[in-house]
Parts: sequence; C-alpha cells; structure tokens
Amino acid sequence: MKLTPLTDVFGMEVGDVHLTPDLDDETFAGIERAFEEHSLLLFRNQEMDEAAQVAFSRRFGPLESTLAGVAGAGGEIVRVSNLMPDGSLKAPTSHLALFVRANLFWHTDSSFKATPAKASLLFARIIPEAGGDTEFASTRAAYETLPAARRARLDRMIAMHSIAHSRDKIDPTATTAEQRAALPPVPQALVRENPVTGRRSLLIGAHVTDVVGLEISMSDALLAELEALATRPGHTWRHSWRAGDMIMWDNRAVLHRGHPYDEVASRRLLTRTTLAGAGPTVEAGTIIEARSRT
Ligand SMILES: [Fe+2]
Repeated sequence: MKLTPLTDVFGMEVGDVHLTPDLDDETFAGIERAFEEHSLLLFRNQEMDEAAQVAFSRRFGPLESTLAGVAGAGGEIVRVSNLMPDGSLKAPTSHLALFVRANLFWHTDSSFKATPAKASLLFARIIPEAGGDTEFASTRAAYETLPAARRARLDRMIAMHSIAHSRDKIDPTATTAEQRAALPPVPQALVRENPVTGRRSLLIGAHVTDVVGLEISMSDALLAELEALATRPGHTWRHSWRAGDMIMWDNRAVLHRGHPYDEVASRRLLTRTTLAGAGPTVEAGTIIEARSRT
C-alpha cells in the first residue's frame, strides 16, 4: 500500500490496493489507520458493483440508510446522479434535482441527524467530460490553527442543524412536509472529537442554522469566519473524478461540496455509502432553548 499526500494538511492517494471482497485483514487495518490519520483517502482504478461497495463499507462498521422521500429510501446506497433509476435524465427543475443542488454548499453529511455520519464513501461510475468536481476542506486543520483560548470557548458551544435550512437556501419547496416532519432541527457540538486519535474538528456547514445562545448576527458572523478558515487556500482538495475513483472521507474532520456540471447534456452517476456515527455529539439531557430563525 503506497500513500501519496494530496495536500499539506490532509488527504492521501492510496496506491497498489484493489478494494476486492478478498482484501486481507492486514491491508484493511492499514486503510483504517490511514483514514483516521489523514481524513480522506482516494483509491483510483477500482471496480465494484453496488453490493461490493456496501460489503466493503460494512467492514468499517454499521451503515446509515437513506432518507425518506428520496429514491431508494431505506437502502444503504445513495445515487448521486442526474439520472432516474430507469436511466432517463431527471428534469433539472424537479424536486429531486433541487434537493441535490444544496450539495453545492460546503456541508457535513448527515449533520442534521441526531447521530451524524462518521464517514462517506463515494464511488464514481459514470462521469461527465467536464464539471462535477467534489471539493473537500479540513475542519480539523482549521480547529488546530486557532489559539488555545479560542478553541476552549468553541469546545463549549452547540449549534442547531437542519436539512430544511440548507435546502431552503435553494428553494423553500425543495424539502417536503414529510421530510421536515421526519427530520426536525437537532443540536450538535460545534467541536467534534475523533475518539481514535483524540483530534478535534469544527462541525459546521450548510445544515447549521445558528449557534445556541448567540444573537443571529453574531452566530452568522462566527459561522462565516469558521467556514472561511476551514476552506482557505492550502486547506482544500478539489477532486476531478474519473470513473473507477473511490473517495472515503471523514465527516468528523472535513467539509465537502459539489461543483456544477451540465445536467441536461451529460450523464453522471456516483454511489455513496455512509458509515453511521458512534452517537450524538451533545450529551443526553442537555437543555437547548429552541428558537425559530426569522
Ligand atoms: Fe454530501
């Protein structure tokens, strides 16, 4: 297994590994260690059908199932695509297409769930000739560059996360009433710790509505400052996909966002599996004063 850095602060390309069902335990353990340490792993020239992707992903732990109201609901594979299940193109103004467009904002997968995701694995199957890059940013490097006194203050903060919030920025109709009811806002610690390495990161992104206890203007300013810190030059990796690429990233340590592509004239299909987190980031019994954002 050969590791080549993608940036100075996070991310490794992993060479000389084929993610086949007979991958030996020693190599797998090496992948797991590299993932915890480097936050993002890129494997090129892989071949795997959806069942093989699910099987490989499960070796890391339990998987999340997909959202209610989305194609393939309740399954373990999310199709990140402009294609309908029958292979036809989604209408660019359709509910499904609008829903996906919110992924162009920096975000943390599943941070709107009480237990946010540990990691996401995205495998490229059909890739357009241009566009559709995915960009990643290290929220761990951002946290670690802050002065100790500032980190200590952030360590105590809690933010509210809601999927409707990120979707409403695209279109207030992008989230259905069923989805709003199924996924009400949840509290998350603003700083999340990796229990294996003990290293901390900022849990931020488009699903955050506000930081609890701060005036909205102060909360907006803080969140914008932290996102700018995390996504500054040198702390990001922009990936141009090729079919056969697999990227596994640590949602406890990186933000990511999509980039647009021609959804009408090209075809794109990536499949995602998502590793479930170990538990909520806010201690049970913590009282949060709810307020509605105006
Ligand atoms: Fe995402």
